[in-house]
Amino acid sequence: MLKKEIEKALNEQIATEAAASFLYLSLASWCDTKGFEGSAAFLYQQSDEERMHMLRLFHYINNTGGSAIAPEIKKQNYKISTLADAYRLVYKSEIKVTESVNELVDLCTKQKDYSTLNFIQWYVSEQYEEEVLMKSIIDKIELVGDDGKGLFMIDQYIKTIRKENAAAEAKGGQEA
Ligand SMILES: [Fe+2]
Ligand SMILES: [Fe+2]
Repeated sequence: MLKKEIEKALNEQIATEAAASFLYLSLASWCDTKGFEGSAAFLYQQSDEERMHMLRLFHYINNTGGSAIAPEIKKQNYKISTLADAYRLVYKSEIKVTESVNELVDLCTKQKDYSTLNFIQWYVSEQYEEEVLMKSIIDKIELVGDDGKGLFMIDQYIKTIRKENAAAEAKGGQEA
């Protein structure tokens, strides 16, 4: 049986993953309208993955005697004008998600809820992968700066890492 405090924290994590999903969705839309088709495809897929992260939490809460709550989605307010801006925003968001996952680890340890701690480990490694990936994309974009051709090449590259990412994700899903 899930402790109330843990249930509340897991529901907050649901809201965090949902917000991440919609952030990716809105950035995918921005890329789509700016001709960055590789990034658009990548970010639409990231949005789906974040929804999957949210659903894992739903099932865990409901399977352990709690009640998962569908969160309210607030409108995203941000200003971006370059591809680098979009990925910096994503990176910042992923760092925040990592912080909330770490807080969950803390809480589970304090409450001696080792089952939820075990469940949360998947998110710990997922966050590590996401941060590394986003940082590597930013590094590449910064290398080319404002060069149109360079940005085009990077956008094409982003289209290809999408698959590797999907493969890693599928593997993570199996192991969980
Ligand atoms: Fe996530
Ligand atoms: Fe993420």
